[in-house]
Amino acid sequence: MTTTITKSASDLSLDLSQKVIDGKAIAKALRQELAKEVRELKESAGITPGLAVVLVGEDPASGVYVRNKTRACVEVGIRSAQHILPDSTTEAELLSLIDTLNADTEIHGILVQLPLPSHIDQATIIEAISAQKDADGFHPYNMGRLLTGCPTLQPCTPLGVMHLLKSAGIKCAGKDAIVIGRSNIVGKPVAVMLLGQNATVTLCHSKTVNLEKKIAAADIVIAAIGRAEMIKGAWIKEGATVIDVGMNRNAEGKLCGDVEYAEAVKRAAHITPVPGGVGPMTIAMLLKNTVTAARLIHKV
Ligand code: GUN
Repeated sequence: MTTTITKSASDLSLDLSQKVIDGKAIAKALRQELAKEVRELKESAGITPGLAVVLVGEDPASGVYVRNKTRACVEVGIRSAQHILPDSTTEAELLSLIDTLNADTEIHGILVQLPLPSHIDQATIIEAISAQKDADGFHPYNMGRLLTGCPTLQPCTPLGVMHLLKSAGIKCAGKDAIVIGRSNIVGKPVAVMLLGQNATVTLCHSKTVNLEKKIAAADIVIAAIGRAEMIKGAWIKEGATVIDVGMNRNAEGKLCGDVEYAEAVKRAAHITPVPGGVGPMTIAMLLKNTVTAARLIHKV
């Protein structure tokens, strides 16, 4: 005997909402929790977490990110200070501002928006930020702590990716995870975090051969290569989880990720959309890191 199950429209929308990981809603819930934590910190210890965001130059995309970060701070009750510097700023001038922010007792987190103009050495700037105030988790001390399994402040986008996996009920232990992209901001730290959750991790990059075959074998795919829809939907294993960190424009100028979503969504069990997936999580995690830094500094 065969049984036909007819699903109502509401059942179908439920299925879809479970398949498509709603980063916007998950980030909103996180911000609400943080707003409560910030209120309690103020009441119980008289501490208002403070974040300084520094932007050098006129890159329009970076300008949008910085404004969004500042707006999100205000929403959860974090004090925010914006420092917008001209493209002509010297490395010495930027180092001097960082010294001032390192010594400012009202500032607990410092973020210098990347990329920096080419006349400023990125590593020098990242190392100059006090490791305790490193809201990005990029300082070699914090990266080293992550690598050695004793994490302190951790990079925001990878933290967001891990939070999305957890929210979708994905268990990493024993799974084959593939990370495409080896940047210090996303690829390397997220690979270490997945390893920390006992996944078997393959870290791929632009010189990787047989990428398609490697992706086809993976249970968890983290796409962070920065190339519009480079990862084809047909490469995704049936039932895999796909987290798309990409934020690109396709040939028609439409926002899209690194994964060919329209095809991948047919094969994946869970997938993040672009926009509305990883993007909102990065800012939520930046706020969380600022609160964590305030707690570390004040030992509360
Ligand atoms: N540029 C792109 N992503 C990031 C980020 O997470 N932090 C900083 N500081 N710059 C970025």
